[in-house]
Amino acid sequence: MDKIVIHGGQRLRGEIRILGAKNAALPIQCAALLTASPTTLRHVPRLSDVKTMSELLAGLGCAVEGDRTLVIDPAGVAAGPLEAPYELVKTMRASVTVMGPLLAAYGRCRVSLPGGCAIGARPIDQHLRGLEALGAKIKLAHGYVDLKAKRLKGAVFTFDVVTVGGTQNVMMAAALAKGTTRLENVAREPEVQELAVVLNKMGAKIHGAGTSAMEIEGVDTLHGIDHAILPDRIEAGTFMVAAAISQGDVLLEHAPVDHLHAVIAKLEEAGARCLVEPRGLRVIGPEALKPIDIVTRPHPGFPTDMQAQIMVLAAMADGASVIRETIFENRFMHVPELVRLGANIVVSGNTAVVRGPATLSGTIVMATDLRASASLVLAGLVAEGTTEVRRVYHIDRGYETIEDRLRPLGARMTRYHGAGG
Ligand code: UD1
Repeated sequence: MDKIVIHGGQRLRGEIRILGAKNAALPIQCAALLTASPTTLRHVPRLSDVKTMSELLAGLGCAVEGDRTLVIDPAGVAAGPLEAPYELVKTMRASVTVMGPLLAAYGRCRVSLPGGCAIGARPIDQHLRGLEALGAKIKLAHGYVDLKAKRLKGAVFTFDVVTVGGTQNVMMAAALAKGTTRLENVAREPEVQELAVVLNKMGAKIHGAGTSAMEIEGVDTLHGIDHAILPDRIEAGTFMVAAAISQGDVLLEHAPVDHLHAVIAKLEEAGARCLVEPRGLRVIGPEALKPIDIVTRPHPGFPTDMQAQIMVLAAMADGASVIRETIFENRFMHVPELVRLGANIVVSGNTAVVRGPATLSGTIVMATDLRASASLVLAGLVAEGTTEVRRVYHIDRGYETIEDRLRPLGARMTRYHGAGG
C-alpha cells in the first residue's frame, strides 16, 4: 500500500486546473447502458472509482476503451450476465447505479446489495421503491436483489429522503418507461442535473432537473453521445481549503463557481477571499482564520463531501466552530486522526465542536475513507514537520495523484509506493 509524506508549512501559490467530476462521471458511465450505440466521454478523471465502474461495465459485456477519453460500446450487454457482482459493489457502492439502466433497457438485472460502508449504513431502499413504482418486480435473496419488468410504466413517485444515487437510478429507468413519470423530492445536486443533460442528449425527455421535482416523458430508444464531464466541485472545494489554510493564493482554473456557492460563502466567512476571474476562481488565504458554523445539507446546502476538509480549516481558526453532519451517520472518522495531529475537536452525536487555533504537528495518520483522507492531506500541508498519510488508496478513489497536483503549487509531498500499511 502506498503512503504520502508531506512536509508542512508551505504557502500554496499558482494555478491548478480542476479535473472532471467523479460523481458526474460514474452515473454517466452507467447511462451508456441505456443505448444501443457507443458513447464517448471526455475529461474523464483517472480515478480508481472510474476504473471500477469501467470494470463493472466490461463484466456486463460492454467494450470499454481509453481513460481520459472513454468510449463505452454496450453492444455485448444483451448476451452478458446482467449482474453487478458482490466483489465490485462492495468496493464501490455507486455500482448499484447500473440497476435502473439495466432494468429499463434489458428487462431484468441482478445486483449485489451494498451492505454497510465506512460512513454509515447507506441503504438502497429508495432506489428499490422508486423502481417498484415504475412496475419492477423485486426479490431479495442470497445478498442480491433481482429485478424484472417487461416494460416499465410511468408513475408518480415521491422519495422519502433526498438521495442522489436513488434519483439517478430512477430517472434513468423512467427515461425508457412507457408514459410519463413524475418524481418528487428528488436530489438537486449538479451531478443530477448533468445526468439529465446527458440523458436528454441521448434522446430522453426530462424536465425540471435541478429543482425538487422532475417530469420524465418515456421514450422507446436512446442513442449514444459524445460528452465532456463537468469539473469536480469537491476537488475544487478541497483545493480552495488548501489555499485558505496555507495563507495561499491559488487560481482554480475551470472551478465550477455556480456549484460552489455554499463553500465559497463559508470560506469568505472564515476570512478567505474568493474572487471570480475569467479563467476560474482565485482563493487567497487570510493571516488569521475566523471560526465558522457548518450544517451539511443536500444541494444547494453545504456538501457532506466537504465536511472533513472544512474541519481542518475550523481547527486552524481562532475560536470555536460547530460542524453538524446531517447526511451520513458515522462520518467523523477523520476526527481521531486530526486530534492526533493536534486539533481540538469534541464530537457529540452528529455534532463536532472544533476549538482553535491549533498548532498541528506532523505524525503518522491513517486514511479511513475518501474525504477523510483529503482532510489528512490538508492537515499535513499546514502541520509542523512531517505527516505520513497511510492507506492512500482511499484518496486515489476521488483525487488524481494528489501529490502531483499540489506539488506545482509549492506543496512538499511525495508518494512512496508499496510502503506503509
Ligand atoms: C452520493 C455521492 C456521495 C455524496 C452523497 C451525498 C456519488 C457517486 N456519491 O452518494 O459522494 O456524499 O451523494 O451528497 O454521487 N439513503 C437512504 N435510502 C436510499 C438511499 C439513500 O436512506 O435508498 C440515505 C443515505 O443513507 C444517506 C442519504 O440518504 O443518509 C443520502 O445518500 P445519497 O444521496 O443516496 O448518497 P449516494 O448517492 O450514495
